[in-house]
Amino acid sequence: MSAGPAASPPWETAPPELTRGAGPRPVDPFLAACRRRPTPYTPVWLMRQAGRFLPEYRAIRSRLGFLELCKDADAAAEVTLLPVERLGVDAAILFADILLVVEPMGVGLEFARGEGPVIHRPVRSAADVARLREPDPADAVPFVFETVRRVRAALDGRVPLIGFAGAPFTVASYLVEGGASRDYLWTKRLMYGDPEGWHRLLALLARTIGRYLAGQVAAGAQAVQLFDSWVGCLAPDDYRQYVLPHSRAALAALPPDVPVIHFGTGTAGLLEDFRQAGGDVMGLDWRVDLGAAWARLGPDVAVQGNLDPAALLAPPAEIRRRVAAILAQAAGRPGHIFNLGHGVLPDTPVDHVRALVDAVHELSARRASP
Ligand code: CP3
Repeated sequence: MSAGPAASPPWETAPPELTRGAGPRPVDPFLAACRRRPTPYTPVWLMRQAGRFLPEYRAIRSRLGFLELCKDADAAAEVTLLPVERLGVDAAILFADILLVVEPMGVGLEFARGEGPVIHRPVRSAADVARLREPDPADAVPFVFETVRRVRAALDGRVPLIGFAGAPFTVASYLVEGGASRDYLWTKRLMYGDPEGWHRLLALLARTIGRYLAGQVAAGAQAVQLFDSWVGCLAPDDYRQYVLPHSRAALAALPPDVPVIHFGTGTAGLLEDFRQAGGDVMGLDWRVDLGAAWARLGPDVAVQGNLDPAALLAPPAEIRRRVAAILAQAAGRPGHIFNLGHGVLPDTPVDHVRALVDAVHELSARRASP
């Protein structure tokens, strides 16, 4: 323990928004890193940490369908907590899905086995957009907010809880394509061919996503991540014109003191614009060098990333080497949250994920500066 305030390391005391609970507690490394404050080690969590690579998750899924699981607040809370207990990560991410909020719009959402999401009535014209219902998340997806409350109670301050939503573009891509896509041609057809219909669709999604995120925060989420997973398929100018204002509008619905992580993949060509849409932390994939991307973004933003998820299929010694390389790019600057560049792959060995978390903690451990 330190002798007094003069010798106290900068992370031992913190204002309330950086601590895990009420009162004078140690600063939370994840929340502090979101604010670019010094931390005793680099915090780490993983996208899709609560998913199929965990045998406990697969056991729960053998009894419950994916949507059933999302709608069962007890089971969803249990799955949210699995990686905290099993992997030692520094944050929990709510177990839910970016498409839950589109089901009440009346498009017919199904998660077909082995196929991913299917939208039975895709939205491909202005007339289709006009038929969409605009849900109030409080009535339409109350189970999500209930899961947040249960997780917060069960975590009892151990680590913070991250809420999340899909960004308007990525959610729209599923609505328009009717499922996953490689080239987003239906999406671009609507965007380029009927800009007015496109903007009406994205404005509706931005309002819904904004209320959905604000509802998660009101229920107890301590940070949020906006997933714009597929935005990298766009030309920068199209991003600025057709997408950026809507992502910004969704984020404007949040209280200013809640850290926002803005994540996308394939964003190397539009990093600066992506940042303009908002967020305290920019999520990077592995196709960019973390140090070079951070230099482009500037020092007044935090970064998250960016190990290739496939690296977790390599032996632990190689994982450790790659962790060291990413930490070297961050160079100990405050404001780095370690993560993968995209979600954990289903075939990833659990031991390798543990090796990753341990390597991040060990290799980034910092001694207090005077
Ligand atoms: O990160 C977490 O562990 C929290 C839970 C979470 C899920 N989906 C659970 C899930 C999060 C944060 C998401 C986000 C999500 N969902 C995104 C953005 C992140 C990304 O991967 O780009 C997207 C695009 C979706 C839409 C979605 N949901 C797809 C394409 C699929 C099927 C393919 C796949 O990757 O699994 C889902 C299903 C889904 N969402 C599963 C899980 C655990 C698998 C469902 C199962 O058990 O079969």
